[in-house]
Formats: sequence, structure tokens, C-alpha cells
Amino acid sequence: MKMRRKLIAGNWKMNLGIKESEKLASEIVKKTGSNILKKTDVLICPPFISIPAVSKILKNTGILLGAQNLSSENDGAYTGEISASMLHSAGCGYVIVGHSERRKYFHETNPVVNAKAVQSLKHGLKTIICVGETFQEREDEIFESIIIEQVRTALNDIPAGKMKDVIIAYEPVWAIGTGLNATPEQASAIHLLINNTAEEIFGKEISGELLIIYGGSVNAGNAYDILSAERIDGALIGGASLKADDFVFISDTASKLK
Ligand code: PGA
Repeated sequence: MKMRRKLIAGNWKMNLGIKESEKLASEIVKKTGSNILKKTDVLICPPFISIPAVSKILKNTGILLGAQNLSSENDGAYTGEISASMLHSAGCGYVIVGHSERRKYFHETNPVVNAKAVQSLKHGLKTIICVGETFQEREDEIFESIIIEQVRTALNDIPAGKMKDVIIAYEPVWAIGTGLNATPEQASAIHLLINNTAEEIFGKEISGELLIIYGGSVNAGNAYDILSAERIDGALIGGASLKADDFVFISDTASKLK
């Protein structure tokens, strides 16, 4: 079985213009030493409009580039949408699908998230599929079945051979941007559940290689505890990814773990 390399991903969300994106990307490049990149994959996901500019800055640095969303369609009359092949041509190797903000504000259902994942994988993009329960679902103690359903539907029709390009991000909705993070134990338990759900579909070999990362108020202060917990292979970071020092500190923390 292949070793799972840790992944630290920054989701800039709808922040920063092109100039500010260039500035932050340049700072991250400057501060991310080769010792970090030897051990850890570091990924930046800026807004669409900054992708070409950030792509130039990241060229030959070893830092990876991704988008925050894509269309489930190939091309054609879909005003305002961005396709997988456009992302590819702009230098993206990764894309995030099914972020809870997409689910909540843009009504993306599990089948929509699945269609987007199928589309991005077909075009060779590594695909971060986000899952996670709301506060109410945790209170109602139905969160495990919610997560299983999200994972199962998102992975529907994904060929086993494409699973090496899938990353699952567990992001409890109640922990995103709130300053409340899941405890390492809470997160680990869900990561194991996701692992087992993938194992039921694809078997031990493939699920054992699947990266499962955590997101939700990860910052420089809590990164060590979260990243060292069982079956946590990295982090998807919102707020703290907008500060070069914090983001690089978290990447460095990941790189120092076994
Ligand atoms: P946060 O966002 O780190 O600001 O909580 C995480 C995410 O939404 O990916």
C-alpha cells in the first residue's frame, strides 16, 4: 500500500483581488521551504479570476494549484460557469467540490456533487470532495448516516482506477469559520467512518490509500493536535490560509509529523 502524503490545502473562498492574490501567493512561495514540500503536499485554491496570475507565481515551485468549484457540464451554453478543461488549461491540478457553502447557498445536492466529481476526475483533476454534518444533524445524532450518504453518493460511478485522484475532506459545517473545531477524537472517528465507507465500496487497498483531510477552523494553534490524530491526512483551511505565516506554519507542522 502506498504511503499517504499529508496535504495542506488553502481555500481562499471569495477573498482577495488579483493583486492581493499575487501578493499572498508570492509570500507563501517565499516562506515555504523545500523541507516542507519534501514531506507534504501544499495546495492553494484562489478564486477563479486569480488562477492564471497565481499559476505563474507557483510555476516550478512545487506548490500546487486548485479551484474551489467547477461545472458538471463539458462546455456550451452555461452562462457564468467554468469547466474542468478550462481549469486544466489554466494550470489547476485540483478542484474542491461539494463545499458546505456550495451546498448551502447554491443548493448543491449530493447528486450534483457526484456529477461534479465525476466530471473533474474524467478530466484528470484531483478532486477534493467535501462532506460534513450541520450542528442540528450532530445534535440529532444522525450525523453518521448523513456522512455515509454524502460519501456513498459522491463516489457513485467513480471507477476504482480514479480513486487515487480523490481526496475526501471532512468539514463539520458547525466548525467552518466559527472558531469551533471538532476535537481530534471527534474528527478521527468520522475519518475512520469515511475510511470504512470507502472500504465497503472499493476494498481495503484503495481505501487505505485514500486521503481524508479535516477542515473547520484549523489554525496555527490547533493544527498539531488535529494533524497528529489517527487517520487525519491533512487539512483544508479557510480563514488561516489567508495569512501566509499561519498557512506556512501549518504546512510546516504537517511536514514534521510522521
Ligand atoms: P475555516 O474554513 O478554516 O475558515 O473554518 C474551512 C473551509 O471552509 O474549508
